[in-house]
Amino acid sequence: MSNAEQPQDMTRRQFLSTVGKVGGSLAVFSLMGNLGLLSPETMKAQDYTPPGKNDLALSNRNGKKIIILGAGIAGLTAAYELGKAGYQCTVLEAKPFAGGRNWSIRKGTTNQEIGGTRQYSQFGSDLYFNAGPMRIPQFHSTLEYCREFNIPIEPFNNVNDSGYYYNENVGALSGQRITKRAAKADVRGYVSEMLAKAVNQSALDLPITPEEKEKLVEYLRREGDLNADLFYRGSSRGGYKEEPGSRLDAGVVRDPFDLTAILQSGFGNYFSNEYGYDQQMMMFHPVGGMDMIVKGFEKRLGNRVKLNAPVTEIRQSGDGVRVRFTQNKKEQEIIGDYCICTIPLSVLRTIPGDFSPSMKSAIQNARYASAGKIGLQFKRRFWEEDELLFGGNSLTNMDITQIYYPPTDYFGKKGILLGYYATGANADKLGSMSYIERERHALNQGAKIHPQYKTEFENSFSIDWKKIKYQEGAWVSYNAEERAGMYKTLCQPDNRIYLAGDHISHIVAWQAGAIDSARAVVKDIHQRVMKA
Ligand code: PHE
Repeated sequence: MSNAEQPQDMTRRQFLSTVGKVGGSLAVFSLMGNLGLLSPETMKAQDYTPPGKNDLALSNRNGKKIIILGAGIAGLTAAYELGKAGYQCTVLEAKPFAGGRNWSIRKGTTNQEIGGTRQYSQFGSDLYFNAGPMRIPQFHSTLEYCREFNIPIEPFNNVNDSGYYYNENVGALSGQRITKRAAKADVRGYVSEMLAKAVNQSALDLPITPEEKEKLVEYLRREGDLNADLFYRGSSRGGYKEEPGSRLDAGVVRDPFDLTAILQSGFGNYFSNEYGYDQQMMMFHPVGGMDMIVKGFEKRLGNRVKLNAPVTEIRQSGDGVRVRFTQNKKEQEIIGDYCICTIPLSVLRTIPGDFSPSMKSAIQNARYASAGKIGLQFKRRFWEEDELLFGGNSLTNMDITQIYYPPTDYFGKKGILLGYYATGANADKLGSMSYIERERHALNQGAKIHPQYKTEFENSFSIDWKKIKYQEGAWVSYNAEERAGMYKTLCQPDNRIYLAGDHISHIVAWQAGAIDSARAVVKDIHQRVMKA
């Protein structure tokens, strides 16, 4: 605990927040909000009030019908929240299952990618991997539904220094698997050493007092675990070549790599992955698979979700919307007062619809990113048994980009590794391969980090999001110009049609983006209905 966190220093904010947690009291939260004591992200998660709590009768009387397109997290959220307020909702989903990209691959899951053959999962009965979202930052609204639906959650350990870095063609450390802790100790050690010396010799033109200089050097000494003379000579933070043990067994700290080798390795460039606002610990995931969230919604929505019902036409007039879809090979039509369309823009652009010209062009021009994942089932959890590696990931400059170790069921019998999670050009390259080629590629490259791959592998299942029917992309990608231009059009209702989804948020590629955008539309529609 740092000095600032000592109880005697407890600020008003900390006091109220402690009271709020203990009492679970919304009143305290709103009091804090009024006092301006909540940080913006905490405020966001708490400030959504579903419509209709106080005017249920009136909205019921209006009996408005809302047609929701897509049963991903945005569509499910919209239907659930509108349902609370008494609106009549129908959700049309093209796929045979709900959830969208929230998709846990289990025993028996089948998939046929666009232009590909059929894939059938032979995973063991209690095993799964999350092909889409797999982690939830602790401040995302996603967790509110875990709480509301009583879905148990457990830590997703996004950070584990027992994981490895492995790069090829980077000088002396090429083709060597190095623990993250070793790379971190050495990079931080050398960089701190250089900086501390430069500061000490006044080699840097810093606008600080001599006293502040001293403080800066002291910080760097701790940051790099430097000796008193400000040299980095290795640190136990990087691990041991002989582990310490009982009695006289002091252990032997590993020798640091030399400066040139560790700089050339490029490992330092990986550190910041863990710093991102949305990648910092704590992170969570639902026990049993991310699709527990989907099941939570489905249980509450019942027959309001129509599966296997791809939309073929979206029409609107001054007083209503009309959507055509197919179900059981029959053309069908449904009419409503408003439409919430969560269909990915990559798919929506292929469906005839009554959109304004500016909306049409925005839908047409939105660019989607590539991402792909493979789940590899092994008959033994060798990363835990042989290497004492529990969750987290390893990073590499090979095509596979990263391996994630399952953050659940430690010391279980079998396990599914995320054998690659690739984006951009790497994802396209892997995605262009057949399922069996992807598997071979993931095994060949992964075996360089874990030789056990060769003897322990059982089966795999892979996903290329660009090739998944009714998705055709991993997530939208807007540059600054697009955010300032066409994105604003996408955020506006087009007469009676409202777009929702993570693509209508600044939390792209997260379920929270889908949830928050759906809630924003729910609020808008409700206000419009109440005013009419
Ligand atoms: N949410 C996704 C993930 O955590 C994609 C993403 C990665 C989004 C990094 C933002 C930052 O893997």
